[in-house]
Amino acid sequence: MLSAADLSHAFGATAVLHGVSLEVAGGEVVAVTGPSGSGKSTLLHLLGGLGQPTSGAVYWEGVRIDNLGTEARARRRVRSLGLVFQHHYLLPDLTLLGNLRVPGMILGSDLTERALGLLEQVGLGGRGHEYPEVLSGGERQRLAVARALVARPAALLADEPTGSLDRANARKVAQLMIGLAREYGSGVLLVTHDDELAGLADRRIDLLDGRVVP
Ligand SMILES: Nc1ncnc2c1ncn2[C@@H]1O[C@H](COP(=O)(O)OP(=O)(O)O)[C@@H](O)[C@H]1O
Ligand SMILES: [Mg+2]
Repeated sequence: MLSAADLSHAFGATAVLHGVSLEVAGGEVVAVTGPSGSGKSTLLHLLGGLGQPTSGAVYWEGVRIDNLGTEARARRRVRSLGLVFQHHYLLPDLTLLGNLRVPGMILGSDLTERALGLLEQVGLGGRGHEYPEVLSGGERQRLAVARALVARPAALLADEPTGSLDRANARKVAQLMIGLAREYGSGVLLVTHDDELAGLADRRIDLLDGRVVP
Protein backbone atom coordinates (compact mmCIF):
# COMPACT_ATOMS: atom_id res chain seq x y z
CA MET A 1 0.00 0.00 0.00
CA LEU A 2 2.83 2.32 0.99
CA SER A 3 6.54 1.80 0.83
CA ALA A 4 9.90 3.51 0.95
CA ALA A 5 13.02 2.12 -0.67
CA ASP A 6 16.43 3.22 0.59
CA LEU A 7 15.23 6.71 1.40
CA SER A 8 17.82 9.30 2.33
CA HIS A 9 17.41 12.97 2.96
CA ALA A 10 19.62 15.93 3.78
CA PHE A 11 18.82 19.54 4.55
CA GLY A 12 21.80 21.28 2.96
CA ALA A 13 24.87 19.64 4.46
CA THR A 14 22.90 18.02 7.29
CA ALA A 15 21.91 14.42 6.55
CA VAL A 16 18.82 13.45 8.56
CA LEU A 17 17.70 10.15 6.96
CA HIS A 18 20.04 7.38 5.91
CA GLY A 19 18.72 4.60 3.68
CA VAL A 20 15.35 3.98 5.31
CA SER A 21 13.23 1.21 3.77
CA LEU A 22 9.81 0.22 5.02
CA GLU A 23 6.49 -1.16 3.89
CA VAL A 24 2.96 -0.83 5.23
CA ALA A 25 0.48 -3.42 4.01
CA GLY A 26 -3.26 -2.86 3.57
CA GLY A 27 -5.00 -2.79 6.94
CA GLU A 28 -1.70 -2.96 8.81
CA VAL A 29 -0.93 -0.49 11.60
CA VAL A 30 2.72 0.44 11.97
CA ALA A 31 4.06 2.80 14.62
CA VAL A 32 7.19 4.87 13.98
CA THR A 33 8.90 5.81 17.22
CA GLY A 34 12.17 7.40 18.17
CA PRO A 35 13.54 10.37 20.09
CA SER A 36 12.95 13.96 19.06
CA GLY A 37 15.13 14.84 16.08
CA SER A 38 15.50 11.23 14.89
CA GLY A 39 13.86 12.04 11.55
CA LYS A 40 10.30 10.81 12.07
CA SER A 41 8.56 13.89 10.65
CA THR A 42 11.00 14.12 7.76
CA LEU A 43 10.27 10.48 6.92
CA LEU A 44 6.52 11.00 7.07
CA HIS A 45 6.81 14.13 4.93
CA LEU A 46 8.65 12.23 2.22
CA LEU A 47 6.27 9.27 2.42
CA GLY A 48 3.41 11.74 2.00
CA GLY A 49 5.02 13.13 -1.15
CA LEU A 50 5.28 16.54 0.51
CA GLY A 51 9.00 16.78 -0.14
CA GLN A 52 11.61 15.36 -2.47
CA PRO A 53 14.04 12.81 -1.01
CA THR A 54 17.73 13.31 -1.72
CA SER A 55 17.77 9.69 -2.89
CA GLY A 56 15.58 6.61 -2.79
CA ALA A 57 11.97 6.07 -3.83
CA VAL A 58 8.44 6.30 -2.43
CA TYR A 59 5.57 4.12 -3.68
CA TRP A 60 1.84 4.53 -3.14
CA GLU A 61 -0.23 1.51 -4.12
CA GLY A 62 2.75 0.21 -6.06
CA VAL A 63 3.25 3.41 -8.09
CA ARG A 64 6.44 5.41 -7.69
CA ILE A 65 5.45 8.97 -6.76
CA ASP A 66 8.61 10.83 -5.71
CA ASN A 67 9.47 11.55 -9.35
CA LEU A 68 5.97 12.76 -10.32
CA GLY A 69 5.24 16.45 -10.82
CA THR A 70 3.53 18.37 -8.02
CA GLU A 71 0.10 18.38 -9.69
CA ALA A 72 0.02 14.70 -10.58
CA ARG A 73 1.25 13.83 -7.12
CA ALA A 74 -1.37 16.00 -5.41
CA ARG A 75 -4.19 14.37 -7.40
CA ARG A 76 -2.93 10.91 -6.62
CA ARG A 77 -2.45 11.80 -2.95
CA VAL A 78 -6.14 12.57 -2.44
CA ARG A 79 -7.04 9.08 -3.65
CA SER A 80 -4.21 7.14 -2.05
CA LEU A 81 -3.46 8.84 1.25
CA GLY A 82 -5.04 10.39 4.28
CA LEU A 83 -2.90 12.74 6.36
CA VAL A 84 -3.31 13.72 10.01
CA PHE A 85 -0.95 16.06 11.82
CA GLN A 86 -0.62 17.38 15.35
CA HIS A 87 -2.40 20.52 14.16
CA HIS A 88 -5.80 19.74 12.64
CA TYR A 89 -5.56 21.99 9.51
CA LEU A 90 -9.36 22.17 9.28
CA LEU A 91 -10.73 24.97 7.11
CA PRO A 92 -12.27 27.52 9.53
CA ASP A 93 -14.70 29.00 6.96
CA LEU A 94 -16.29 25.64 6.15
CA THR A 95 -18.74 23.74 8.34
CA LEU A 96 -17.80 20.34 9.74
CA LEU A 97 -19.65 18.67 6.87
CA GLY A 98 -18.06 21.14 4.43
CA ASN A 99 -14.61 20.12 5.64
CA LEU A 100 -15.45 16.46 5.08
CA ARG A 101 -16.66 17.18 1.55
CA VAL A 102 -13.39 18.73 0.40
CA PRO A 103 -11.68 15.48 -0.65
CA GLY A 104 -14.74 14.51 -2.70
CA MET A 105 -14.76 17.89 -4.41
CA ILE A 106 -11.14 17.43 -5.40
CA LEU A 107 -11.89 13.92 -6.66
CA GLY A 108 -15.03 15.04 -8.47
CA SER A 109 -17.29 12.66 -6.58
CA ASP A 110 -19.94 13.45 -4.03
CA LEU A 111 -18.90 11.92 -0.71
CA THR A 112 -21.67 13.55 1.34
CA GLU A 113 -23.29 10.26 2.38
CA ARG A 114 -19.98 8.87 3.52
CA ALA A 115 -19.15 12.14 5.26
CA LEU A 116 -22.40 11.99 7.22
CA GLY A 117 -21.67 8.39 8.22
CA LEU A 118 -18.17 9.32 9.36
CA LEU A 119 -19.49 12.26 11.37
CA GLU A 120 -21.56 9.74 13.32
CA GLN A 121 -18.62 7.38 13.69
CA VAL A 122 -16.37 10.06 15.17
CA GLY A 123 -19.05 11.16 17.60
CA LEU A 124 -20.08 14.36 15.81
CA GLY A 125 -23.34 13.12 14.34
CA GLY A 126 -25.94 15.84 13.81
CA ARG A 127 -23.32 18.59 14.12
CA GLY A 128 -22.36 18.88 10.45
CA HIS A 129 -23.64 22.46 10.20
CA GLU A 130 -21.34 23.72 12.98
CA TYR A 131 -17.91 25.30 12.47
CA PRO A 132 -14.53 23.99 13.64
CA GLU A 133 -14.05 26.88 16.07
CA VAL A 134 -16.75 25.54 18.41
CA LEU A 135 -15.07 22.13 18.72
CA SER A 136 -12.81 20.98 21.54
CA GLY A 137 -9.27 19.86 20.74
CA GLY A 138 -10.26 16.20 20.76
CA GLU A 139 -13.28 16.84 18.55
CA ARG A 140 -11.14 18.72 16.01
CA GLN A 141 -8.70 15.84 15.79
CA ARG A 142 -11.60 13.40 15.40
CA LEU A 143 -12.90 15.50 12.51
CA ALA A 144 -9.40 15.60 11.01
CA VAL A 145 -9.35 11.78 11.20
CA ALA A 146 -12.75 11.62 9.49
CA ARG A 147 -11.54 13.92 6.71
CA ALA A 148 -8.40 11.82 6.23
CA LEU A 149 -10.51 8.68 5.80
CA VAL A 150 -13.50 9.94 3.83
CA ALA A 151 -11.98 9.05 0.44
CA ARG A 152 -11.12 5.54 1.79
CA PRO A 153 -7.40 5.95 1.12
CA ALA A 154 -5.03 3.02 0.81
CA ALA A 155 -3.01 4.41 3.69
CA LEU A 156 -3.23 6.89 6.52
CA LEU A 157 -0.14 8.85 7.58
CA ALA A 158 -0.33 10.42 11.01
CA ASP A 159 2.39 12.54 12.64
CA GLU A 160 1.83 12.86 16.40
CA PRO A 161 -1.93 13.17 15.70
CA THR A 162 -2.71 13.27 19.40
CA GLY A 163 0.30 15.36 20.45
CA SER A 164 -1.84 18.33 21.46
CA LEU A 165 -4.33 16.29 23.53
CA ASP A 166 -4.44 15.11 27.13
CA ARG A 167 -3.84 11.42 27.76
CA ALA A 168 -7.47 10.32 27.89
CA ASN A 169 -8.37 12.16 24.69
CA ALA A 170 -5.17 11.03 22.99
CA ARG A 171 -6.02 7.40 23.63
CA LYS A 172 -9.59 7.88 22.46
CA VAL A 173 -8.60 9.60 19.21
CA ALA A 174 -5.85 7.07 18.47
CA GLN A 175 -8.16 4.12 19.10
CA LEU A 176 -10.84 5.68 16.93
CA MET A 177 -8.38 6.38 14.10
CA ILE A 178 -6.98 2.86 14.15
CA GLY A 179 -10.43 1.27 14.42
CA LEU A 180 -11.78 3.19 11.43
CA ALA A 181 -8.66 2.54 9.36
CA ARG A 182 -8.98 -1.19 10.04
CA GLU A 183 -12.67 -1.06 9.11
CA TYR A 184 -11.85 0.61 5.77
CA GLY A 185 -8.76 -1.53 5.14
CA SER A 186 -6.42 1.48 5.12
CA GLY A 187 -2.86 0.84 6.26
CA VAL A 188 -1.67 3.21 8.99
CA LEU A 189 1.73 4.71 9.66
CA LEU A 190 1.53 6.39 13.05
CA VAL A 191 4.41 8.57 14.21
CA THR A 192 4.36 8.88 17.97
CA HIS A 193 6.77 9.21 20.85
CA ASP A 194 4.10 7.79 23.16
CA ASP A 195 4.75 4.15 24.07
CA GLU A 196 1.15 3.54 25.00
CA LEU A 197 -0.08 4.63 21.56
CA ALA A 198 2.71 2.72 19.81
CA GLY A 199 1.41 -0.33 21.67
CA LEU A 200 -1.84 -0.09 19.69
CA ALA A 201 0.06 -0.86 16.46
CA ASP A 202 0.66 -4.28 14.91
CA ARG A 203 4.34 -3.52 14.45
CA ARG A 204 6.83 -0.92 15.44
CA ILE A 205 9.73 0.73 13.61
CA ASP A 206 12.28 2.58 15.74
CA LEU A 207 14.30 5.42 14.26
CA LEU A 208 17.55 6.65 15.72
CA ASP A 209 19.62 9.39 14.06
CA GLY A 210 17.81 8.84 10.78
CA ARG A 211 18.29 5.08 10.66
CA VAL A 212 15.93 2.19 11.35
CA VAL A 213 17.08 0.41 14.50
CA PRO A 214 17.45 -3.28 13.58
N1 LIG B 1 13.36 22.17 7.22
C1 LIG B 1 14.46 21.77 7.89
N2 LIG B 1 15.66 22.37 7.66
C2 LIG B 1 16.76 21.97 8.32
N3 LIG B 1 16.79 20.95 9.21
C3 LIG B 1 15.63 20.33 9.47
C4 LIG B 1 14.41 20.70 8.83
N4 LIG B 1 13.42 19.89 9.29
C5 LIG B 1 14.00 19.07 10.18
N5 LIG B 1 15.32 19.32 10.29
C6 LIG B 1 16.28 18.59 11.14
O1 LIG B 1 16.20 17.22 10.80
C7 LIG B 1 16.33 16.39 11.94
C8 LIG B 1 15.11 15.48 12.05
O2 LIG B 1 13.95 16.28 12.32
P1 LIG B 1 12.50 15.68 12.37
O3 LIG B 1 12.29 14.85 11.15
O4 LIG B 1 11.56 16.79 12.60
O5 LIG B 1 12.60 14.72 13.63
P2 LIG B 1 11.46 14.17 14.62
O6 LIG B 1 10.13 14.33 13.95
O7 LIG B 1 11.85 12.76 14.87
O8 LIG B 1 11.55 14.98 15.87
C9 LIG B 1 16.48 17.35 13.12
O9 LIG B 1 17.85 17.47 13.42
C10 LIG B 1 15.93 18.65 12.61
O10 LIG B 1 16.53 19.73 13.23
MG1 LIG C 1 8.37 15.25 14.49
